[in-house]
Amino acid sequence: MVAVTVSMCSIIGYYGPGSAAKVIVDGLKKMEYRGYDSVGVSTLCDDRIETRKSIGKVAEVNESLRLSSMRGRIGIGHTRWATHGGVSSSNAHPHCSNSNKISIVHNGIIENYQSIRQQLRGEGFIFKSQTDSEVIANLLQKNLELTGSIRESMLRTLSKLKGSYAFIAIFENGTVAAARYREPLIIGLGQSAYYLSSDVLGFADHADDAIFLGDKEMVIIRPTGMEIMNFDGAPIPRAVTKIAHELLTVQKGEFSHYTLKEIFEQPSTIMRTSGTEWYDSETMLDRLRECKSLYLVGSGTSYNAAVIGTYLLSKYAKKRAEPMIASDVQFLPHFLDQEAVLLAISQSGESADILNAANIAKENGAEVMSIVNSLTSSLFRESSFSIGLNCGPEIGVAATKSFTSQLAILYKLASKLSDGKINPNFKEVSIAMSKVLSNSSKISRIAEEFENVSDIYLLGRGIHFPIALEGALKIKEISYIHAEGLPGGELKHGPLALMNEGVYVILINPEDSTYRDTLTGAHEIKARGGKIIGISNTCNEVYDRWIEVPTIDEAMFPIIESIPLQLLAYYASIQKKADPDYPRNLAKCVTVR
Ligand code: F6R
Repeated sequence: MVAVTVSMCSIIGYYGPGSAAKVIVDGLKKMEYRGYDSVGVSTLCDDRIETRKSIGKVAEVNESLRLSSMRGRIGIGHTRWATHGGVSSSNAHPHCSNSNKISIVHNGIIENYQSIRQQLRGEGFIFKSQTDSEVIANLLQKNLELTGSIRESMLRTLSKLKGSYAFIAIFENGTVAAARYREPLIIGLGQSAYYLSSDVLGFADHADDAIFLGDKEMVIIRPTGMEIMNFDGAPIPRAVTKIAHELLTVQKGEFSHYTLKEIFEQPSTIMRTSGTEWYDSETMLDRLRECKSLYLVGSGTSYNAAVIGTYLLSKYAKKRAEPMIASDVQFLPHFLDQEAVLLAISQSGESADILNAANIAKENGAEVMSIVNSLTSSLFRESSFSIGLNCGPEIGVAATKSFTSQLAILYKLASKLSDGKINPNFKEVSIAMSKVLSNSSKISRIAEEFENVSDIYLLGRGIHFPIALEGALKIKEISYIHAEGLPGGELKHGPLALMNEGVYVILINPEDSTYRDTLTGAHEIKARGGKIIGISNTCNEVYDRWIEVPTIDEAMFPIIESIPLQLLAYYASIQKKADPDYPRNLAKCVTVR
């Protein structure tokens, strides 16, 4: 059986007067959050395409293969994140056609690549990798040889591809062509140079203006200029957008990792998020009040925020909302109709699962709104209304500040929809966050105890259960310790069987209506030898370790109790000598389904 190698990656292309390889390598470094298991660059130099690629991070491969020193003013580059199949140099992009006259980089999945490959093999083409992507290069070659036209070759190739993709191709005659379908592709307009990239971060150092290609659109760049057309070959007028240059200033500063910096930013990001005016919010709020069914949808951390959102809307706004995992929307589209709103929550606005959920909702007549950090993302553009997180770019793979900002928006939403039944005081939350952060050395000492711990359980009741889920997600993804969030009341229905010596249990236990019941569970665990870490505003004798959170309006506890959990995960990752910014097997933006 042939191993399937699909990629969730960043792609970049350059056409201009400068050194293509330098621009490409810098851009790839900025987009490494999208995937980082192998890297490659092709440039066109002296009418020949040269390709260098290998496994490793951008800086490593650049050093070993001297990518930035490759000559040429036209080029493409790629970082890959494999989902199946091997991480190998031959599977790394770019992939060249058999003639070596065309080289491509691709992000996404070509679902029908096996049948295309079989057909091309029958026609004499040879394949050097196990990837789905390589068929694009050879199809382009075949169609170029048949038609003699790059435009025709692109159109014919696109008509054959099934799946989701964005790809960029360079041709030996000095032409660059690119196309997108359900994967992002942005054109940067610099001074006499064109950039193509999965994310504006890839070229934001060089261009002020950008064009966001739409689905089923392609672009051809040659000395005579740039042409944008749809997959039928008809020209498409596209608006130029100004790039937000705050992206450029992202540095780690005094912090050892982006993750830590982003955790420490939260007292200020929460203020920024909560202070941001919502554009046209009255119409949006009316629509939310009127809709018959409301679904809060997200993946991973954004899903956990969605669950908290449903608690808030139900408790304060008396609005019934259902949380849904984005990748499950395809199996549950039954109530998505004209009377439904799907409120999509996403940091990146580019996760394939959330974009697919939004598509399904639209196909069924529902309205799609969003809460999203990236206002240049596909999700933002697909939404009738969107609320920006405004917490700045998040580089660490683990979502931290974006999570608390998502919560801030959901609290504000509950407040507006309930005509003030809850009045979040974000200044108080921000001060409380700072107090928890000032306790980070104590939290780091507690994390040191996790050195040989193999299982951590996190327990919370009511609204604190999704916080337990989020804490467990943080711990497993960056420290690689098995962690599980449990609803406190379920302990006696099964999980108690797992509680014994050596198990650590983190209780999310502020003094509110859940407090007493959660303590009862703690005693049951302690009686069986488990170690208890209590996250609470009051100390209790049952805790082996107490992480104090300040006493604030009890409605706001969930936001602050997520901070010690992020810190515990971060320090546990350091303790395990892992890289919290780039956890193994993960990428910041999951652009495959
Ligand atoms: C966890 C994490 C992921 C993301 C998920 C959704 O720390 O970062 O679970 O939350 O991949 O990503 P977005 O919010 O960009 O759609």
